[in-house]
Amino acid sequence: MANEPAYDAEAFRRFEQEGWADVAETYAATFGQVTGQAIGPLLDAVQAAPGSRLLDIACGAGALTAAAAGRGAEAVGVDFVPNMLALAARLHPGIDFRPGDAEALTFGGGSFDAVVCCFGILHFPRPGQAIAEAFRVLTSGGRYALTAWCPGGPENARGLVEAAVRAHGTLDVDLPEGPPVSRFGSAEACREVFEEAGFAEFETQELPIVYRLARAEELIDNLIKGTARNRGLLVRQAPQQLARIREAVVEHAAPFAVAGGFEIPNPALLAMGRKP
Ligand SMILES: C[S@@+](CC[C@H](N)C(=O)[O-])C[C@H]1O[C@@H](n2cnc3c(N)ncnc32)[C@H](O)[C@@H]1O
Repeated sequence: MANEPAYDAEAFRRFEQEGWADVAETYAATFGQVTGQAIGPLLDAVQAAPGSRLLDIACGAGALTAAAAGRGAEAVGVDFVPNMLALAARLHPGIDFRPGDAEALTFGGGSFDAVVCCFGILHFPRPGQAIAEAFRVLTSGGRYALTAWCPGGPENARGLVEAAVRAHGTLDVDLPEGPPVSRFGSAEACREVFEEAGFAEFETQELPIVYRLARAEELIDNLIKGTARNRGLLVRQAPQQLARIREAVVEHAAPFAVAGGFEIPNPALLAMGRKP
């Protein structure tokens, strides 16, 4: 295949599928609270409205699909992890959730007026293929929007955790290689893949997403209970290393203390394009 990545795409796909299955029961209460802050902006970006046909790709626990239905859209959520879908169905009865792979959607061309992907893109082994699939299932004039994390830095949660792992643990753990986590965190990188897929009217905005935590150490618990790659990295640290990583995160989170806890920024990029 022309777009086949240099890493083992199937190994990465299996790792992601098993990783999300492992955290399905704890996802909604942990990391789902963080990703959920992008729901409103994504639905606005694709102009979700009563009667519009909307597809939520990599729907996870289904909060976005349900919010779209709440706006009157005919919303469908797809995900490739059966127990995530079971959780979504339990949390949001009556909403249409279906098994599906972002890179090989089973819907016909032109089936949707809007397609959204809330923090799914960095989990797909062939993200260009997933964006091409979104383009295919959209009707002419339909909108596609995704969110992805901005790169880690000294002022954000990702940077805080990365720095603590570098200082007190190791990045050299046995995880299957996948696309770079921050690949879609810049407007230019998104523009390139959107335009390659055929999208026009490209726009981006930065979303000021934050972790709201009662205690700073919850940042690490949140990642272990609610993510796949970060969890994989953290649970492969030696117990003493993990303990030191936690301590470092607590120490460096001090500037983010607010009344009643912590608010640690974790900004994201929202990218939107329209099918001509
Ligand atoms: C970070 S969660 C995001 C879930 C939800 N969109 C949200 O914002 O809370 C990533 C989701 O992507 C799903 N996923 C990863 N790779 C996928 C693929 N190739 N096809 C469909 N779903 C996939 C995982 O099962 C997981 O539910």
